[in-house]
Amino acid sequence: MDLILIGFMGSGKSTISQLLGQRLALPVTDLDQVIVDTAAQSIEQIFAEQGEVGFRQLEAQALAQQLDRPGILATGGGVPTQAPNRELLKRHPAPVVLLEIDPETAYDRVKADEHRPIAKNLDLAELAALKLERQAHYQNCADLIINANQTPTAIVAEILAHYH
Ligand code: S3P
Repeated sequence: MDLILIGFMGSGKSTISQLLGQRLALPVTDLDQVIVDTAAQSIEQIFAEQGEVGFRQLEAQALAQQLDRPGILATGGGVPTQAPNRELLKRHPAPVVLLEIDPETAYDRVKADEHRPIAKNLDLAELAALKLERQAHYQNCADLIINANQTPTAIVAEILAHYH
């Protein structure tokens, strides 16, 4: 990969990866989509049938498999919570960019989408607590932290200013 996006659910990884792919004329890979395609099941079905442990195994395999391909990678919000994933991200030469979002904004976005098993039953305070719990892991693998409480155009411009 040429650039890897990490960040909490609802931080805009998918949107920003698409815009970066267009600007840089690079292919875009969404890790959740790779998992869904490989398992031929939705994220919700995987969680329902294999639990979070099963999902994390598929996710780790997908990450290892995708890292050496060219392009922009949008990861799932839980990727940096797993130590082996963090090691892979830190060792990889591509910049790892953390999209940092307010919990309120993340909550509004995630609430509007019912396809996130981890967030489904959480209220704002619980989601904010989960984000806080994960924060050190995100920061631990990030080469660059971007304030994602801006327009997509501004976010992309800030990332490109660092790397191009
Ligand atoms: C998860 C985030 C999701 C998806 C899965 C678990 C998490 O991706 O991988 O539902 O643990 O934060 P998004 O960050 O794209 O929502």
